[in-house]
Amino acid sequence: MKKPFNPFLISGYQGASYFCDRKKETQSIVSAIKNGRNITLVSLRRMGKTGLIKHAFHQAKSKKNNLIYVDLLHTTDLSTMVTEFAKATINQLNLGVLNTSFQKITTLFGSLRPTFTIDPLSGAPSVELDIQKGKQNSKTLEEIFAHLEKQNTHIVVAFDEFQKITTYPEKNIEALLRSYIQHLNNVHFIYSGSQKHILSSMFADARRPFYQSTQFLGLESIPQNEYEIFIMNHFKAAEIPITKNEAEFILDWTYSHTFYVQYFCNRLFEIKMALSNASFHHAIDKIFSENEPVFTNYLSLLTAQQVQLLTAVAKDGWVSKPTSKEFLSKHRLTSSTVQRTLPALMQKEFLTLEKEGYRVYDVFLGRWLAAKY
Ligand SMILES: Nc1ncnc2c1ncn2[C@@H]1O[C@H](COP(=O)(O)OP(=O)(O)OP(=O)(O)O)[C@@H](O)[C@H]1O
Ligand SMILES: [Mg+2]
Repeated sequence: MKKPFNPFLISGYQGASYFCDRKKETQSIVSAIKNGRNITLVSLRRMGKTGLIKHAFHQAKSKKNNLIYVDLLHTTDLSTMVTEFAKATINQLNLGVLNTSFQKITTLFGSLRPTFTIDPLSGAPSVELDIQKGKQNSKTLEEIFAHLEKQNTHIVVAFDEFQKITTYPEKNIEALLRSYIQHLNNVHFIYSGSQKHILSSMFADARRPFYQSTQFLGLESIPQNEYEIFIMNHFKAAEIPITKNEAEFILDWTYSHTFYVQYFCNRLFEIKMALSNASFHHAIDKIFSENEPVFTNYLSLLTAQQVQLLTAVAKDGWVSKPTSKEFLSKHRLTSSTVQRTLPALMQKEFLTLEKEGYRVYDVFLGRWLAAKY
C-alpha cells in the first residue's frame, strides 16, 4: 500500500503500520473466521469497527478467504440493501471484470441490471447495479447467497451498520435473512454496528430470529499505553519531537476515542513543527472553528434545559452521579430537570454512558461547549 502523507488516518484503512493495537480483537475475529463462527461487533460510533474489520481481513488474507464488506449505512429498504450486497459481491469476487460478462451477472442475479464504470483516476473497473422494478428482492438475495455458498474459497460477509435492517419498511427482514443464512456452510458473517441496545436485542432476545447465532465482541478504547507508543512513534518517524506528557495530553483531551485521537493528531502533524502550547492551541482552534456551524446547529435542536445539562457534563468531563448534590448545585440544576432531560440526551446520542459515567458523545462538541460556555 502507498505511504500516506499524514500517518494519522481519519478515513479508510492503509495497512498495519497505520493501525494501532487491537491485537486481541483482531485475533478474536481471525480465529472466529477460521473456525466458522459468526461475530457481532459493537462499539460507540467512531471507535474503530470498520477499521478493525478491514485490519482483521488484511491479517487473515489468504487465497482461502474472501471478504465481502457491505456498508448498510445508507440503505433504507430491502431493495437498497440487496443492491449494496450484490454490488459488493460482484466487485469483490471480480465477477464483472475477470471472466464473466453482463450476461453472467444477469443470469446469476436475475433482477439486477448491471452497468460497468471505470474509475477515472485509478482506471479500476467496477459495476453499478439497478434493481429492475417489480422483480423480487428476496429472490435476488437468495441468488446471492446461493452463489456465495458455491465459491471454492471460504466467504465472510461483513454487514456494517447491521441495525439498519430494523428500520426498513418491509416486515420480517430479520426472519427472511436468517432463513437463508442458517443453511449456509461456506459463508460466515460479521454483523457490526454502534446501536448496542438494538443489536443486543437482535442477538440476545430468544424471540428474535438471530438469537444466539453469533459471538459478541465489544470494542472499547485502545489502551492508553499502546496508543501513546503509536502516536510517539509516528511523530518521531517524521522527526517531530514529542514528549510522553504531550502524547498523554492528546489522549486525555480526546478521551482516547479513536476517531478524535486520529483527527487531533492529524491536525497536529499537519503543522510539521515540534509540539508546543502554541501548536496545541492552533490545532484546537482549527477544530473548533471548522465545527462551530455544525455544533451551533446541533444545539438548536435542543431545549434550553438540555443545553444546560449537556454543557454541565461537558465541563465536568465524566459525570458518574448526575443527580448528586455537588453536581446539581455546581451547575445550578435541579434533580427533576436532570431526570427529565438526561434520557432525552441519551436517546438523541448527545451523551453516552460508559464505565466512568456519562460524557458528551461527540468529543469535540464536548470540548467546544466546555471552552465556550
Ligand atoms: N486501531 C486503529 N488505529 C488507528 N486508527 C484507527 C484505528 N481504528 C480506527 N482508526 C481510524 O479511526 C477512525 C474511525 O474508525 P472507524 O471508521 O473504523 O470507526 P467506526 O466504529 O466504524 O465508526 P462509525 O461508527 O462511524 O462507523 C477512522 O479514521 C480509522 O481510520
Ligand atoms: Mg463504521
